[in-house]
Amino acid sequence: MIQFLLNQELRSEHALDPNLTVLNYLREHLGKSGTKEGCASGDCGACTVVVGELHTDAQGAEQIRYRSLNSCLTFVSSLHGKQLISVEDLKHQGQLHSVQQAMVECHGSQCGFCTPGFVMSLFALQKNSDAPDSQKAHEALAGNLCRCTGYRPILAAAEQACCNKPADQFDSRQAETIARLKAIAPTQTAELNSGDKRCLVPLTVADLADLYDAYPQARLLAGGTDLALEVTQFHRTLPVMIYVGNIEEMKCIESFDDRLEIGAATALSDCYSALHHEYPDFGELLHRFASLQIRNQGTLGGNIGNASPIGDSPPLLIALGAQIVLCKGETRRTLALEDYFIDYRVTARQDSEFIEKIIVPKGHTLFRAYKVSKRLDDDISAVCAAFNLKLDNGVISQARVAFGGMAATPKRAKSCEAVLVGATWNAATVEKACAALAEDFTPLSDFRASKEYRLLSAQNLLRKYFIELQTPHIETRVTAYV
Ligand SMILES: Cc1cc2nc3c(=O)[nH]c(=O)nc-3n(C[C@H](O)[C@H](O)[C@H](O)COP(=O)(O)OP(=O)(O)OC[C@H]3O[C@@H](n4cnc5c(N)ncnc54)[C@H](O)[C@@H]3O)c2cc1C
Ligand code: FES
Ligand code: FES
Repeated sequence: MIQFLLNQELRSEHALDPNLTVLNYLREHLGKSGTKEGCASGDCGACTVVVGELHTDAQGAEQIRYRSLNSCLTFVSSLHGKQLISVEDLKHQGQLHSVQQAMVECHGSQCGFCTPGFVMSLFALQKNSDAPDSQKAHEALAGNLCRCTGYRPILAAAEQACCNKPADQFDSRQAETIARLKAIAPTQTAELNSGDKRCLVPLTVADLADLYDAYPQARLLAGGTDLALEVTQFHRTLPVMIYVGNIEEMKCIESFDDRLEIGAATALSDCYSALHHEYPDFGELLHRFASLQIRNQGTLGGNIGNASPIGDSPPLLIALGAQIVLCKGETRRTLALEDYFIDYRVTARQDSEFIEKIIVPKGHTLFRAYKVSKRLDDDISAVCAAFNLKLDNGVISQARVAFGGMAATPKRAKSCEAVLVGATWNAATVEKACAALAEDFTPLSDFRASKEYRLLSAQNLLRKYFIELQTPHIETRVTAYV
């Protein structure tokens, strides 16, 4: 059984298909059709809902953290122990919520199809920031598409709703909601099942290891932003899933003198500040990663686990020399991330083995990363590049260069690195290293880019890296080409 609050109402669900998304649960099971389906693939934001979770802040106070998610990619089992808020819950005692009122007053809605999604993104923005600047508003809304209104009035609504935010029913009920969430806080592995289909929801790494041993055919579910597409886009059924998002041990970030250790189930939004602090370019890349909704649910472990050749974090992590800790039963092994990716979607992961954490070394000052995609926001890379050199008196003593989108896996450019190491860091060396990239990669053409474009982009990104290191005031780093 899983339990969660549907706004204030306790729901205990025993027998639901674990392949059911929150979107379909709301619309088809509860008849709450305010939440819309636009794409069912995380691209349009029409299905945005807000999920509240207990959270202890830096001062030790218990709070509820509200986050916008795409309900089309969220399976119901991941609501266990949380609060689900949909657009129907905002109007209170006959009064529109202040974010709804702002949308009305700023003329932020025409046909209205996208409006519930925008309203929920604005609600999360309002809850999470006191006086958001326009960058924060853009970030909160980048995952919501509108085909009629245009974004200016919606951004005006964001400003109005966040600069003047009267206390709402969620504020006045906060203590009560915290108490209710504590009362349903999970204490042991939960299960949602229907017939032969099941989703198990463990709370500890040890329980996950045992369950994965017992169900080696299970699919691990983290944020579901890749996995759910198998259901919503390819109409497959996932008979057994194990949800890792309630395992606190796998959601911590620990900072040591020489490294960060990031639990594999840490949401990309939660990785931002530690990675940005250490490597500003990594932070910039995370800003460019999908949309806020996707980053709120998608995890770093899932980005590695899906083994996509165009996943954004792996090239950066490989260039930094990151390692992953793999766990199977009671056995753990540490593997360089570059050795994890073997071939297209083939990895070194054994049956019942899972990624427990990612170890990111600190202290690489010449690390830079670049993403080339057709749109700035909410777009997958055509090419993603990461460069990490060490210079001693102008001579390159170490080089780690890695790319996504150039091969069947995220991959180091070993020929390019061989040219760089031992050479003087100058334009002539860069040109030789660019030529060597053609030996490293034979990219494919697809709808994102032609093979020629990819190779030329990779070479130009190396040139750009060189120019930026020579002239640090030029900072056009995380790139979009239209
Ligand atoms: C609209 C949209 C935009 C996107 N944009 C980007 C983008 O800009 N850049 C990018 O890189 N990706 C992008 N993605 C892909 C996706 O969001 C990321 O890959 C994300 O990091 C996946 O994490 P998740 O937690 O949602 O993974 P899930 O979907 O839960 O899992 C993905 C895979 O990893 C496996 N897995 C999960 N956790 C573990 C673990 N601990 N150990 C082993 N295997 C595990 C799962 O079994 C599954 O096979 C986008 C997706 C969508 C829908
Ligand atoms: S329906 Fe488009 S993002 Fe969910
Ligand atoms: S108001 Fe019509 S899609 Fe946005």
